[in-house]
Amino acid sequence: MAASFTRDGVAVITGGASGIGRAAARRAAEAGMRIVLVDVNAAKLGTIAAELAGLVGLDNVMAETLDVADAGAMVHLANRVAQRFGAPTLLMNNAAAFVSGGAGGTLDPIENWQVTLAVNVLGPVNGVQAFLPGMLASGRAGAIVNTGSKQGLTNPPGNAAYNTSKAAVNAYTQNLARDLREREGGRVSAHLLIPGWTTTGEAEHRAGAWLPEQVIGFMEAAIGRDEFFILCPDDDTPNATDHKRIYWNAMDIIENRPALSRWHPDWKEKFAEFMGRELPR
Ligand SMILES: NC(=O)c1ccc[n+]([C@@H]2O[C@H](COP(=O)([O-])OP(=O)(O)OC[C@H]3O[C@@H](n4cnc5c(N)ncnc54)[C@H](O)[C@@H]3O)[C@@H](O)[C@H]2O)c1
Repeated sequence: MAASFTRDGVAVITGGASGIGRAAARRAAEAGMRIVLVDVNAAKLGTIAAELAGLVGLDNVMAETLDVADAGAMVHLANRVAQRFGAPTLLMNNAAAFVSGGAGGTLDPIENWQVTLAVNVLGPVNGVQAFLPGMLASGRAGAIVNTGSKQGLTNPPGNAAYNTSKAAVNAYTQNLARDLREREGGRVSAHLLIPGWTTTGEAEHRAGAWLPEQVIGFMEAAIGRDEFFILCPDDDTPNATDHKRIYWNAMDIIENRPALSRWHPDWKEKFAEFMGRELPR
């Protein structure tokens, strides 16, 4: 059975200064772990690091102002973490960029695409390349959680770069999970966290959204059941609705429909009718 928040474990959490990453950091502190927070927001990082130090002690917290897209900096960090705390038992590659500045379409400025892909896709790859060798060598059980998105699964129009990046996180993490389970010993597992609508950043909490703590509670239970796909509901969207949307999306290929038929005027009624039905078991 895989475990996430374990006493005496080491948690490395990117995007740990806010939202889902911060909730994970608080849960790690509650569990009595040593914690490494990585974020580009130095001010927020300082605030949460001070809070965590009050819970687990200053010696058990590292707060690193660092861009996850910087492969060299991540390797350098992994070396320092190894010296101070040892290899992580939980690596959460969770930081993501949601870059505005374009209309969210395919012709958005190339800089938006470059940043989004560098942070959201290469960020997790850099995290794994930097920390996985030490995790494997330690012989300890460990879990790697990459944060994806439903936008990477069902691809709703609105932010093509973000959707593309999260689809890549899905593909990458599935490959990582298979690689890890094929290794002798197989003590490190990989998981894809797929949050629903979650109140994070500076957003005001609205009815229907989940709080980051709910996402982390859901994630912990799913990892405890050795689940790879951690598909979180929220108070607006139950899992059954997500399952139908994902199914419809896959059927686009099988039935050779137009791309993203869910949003095609000719398919609107058929989609609405499909959503009213029960999925075949
Ligand atoms: N909130 C949601 O509804 C939702 C839904 C689906 C997926 N997600 C995913 O959840 C993850 C966490 O996001 P959140 O919603 O908690 O947002 P958030 O803005 O509260 O937290 C993201 C953190 O990542 C940090 N960050 C951004 N770029 C970085 C970089 N290059 N290097 C290091 N840190 C960086 C930010 O400073 C911020 O502290 C992301 O991967 C996001 O795509 C969120």
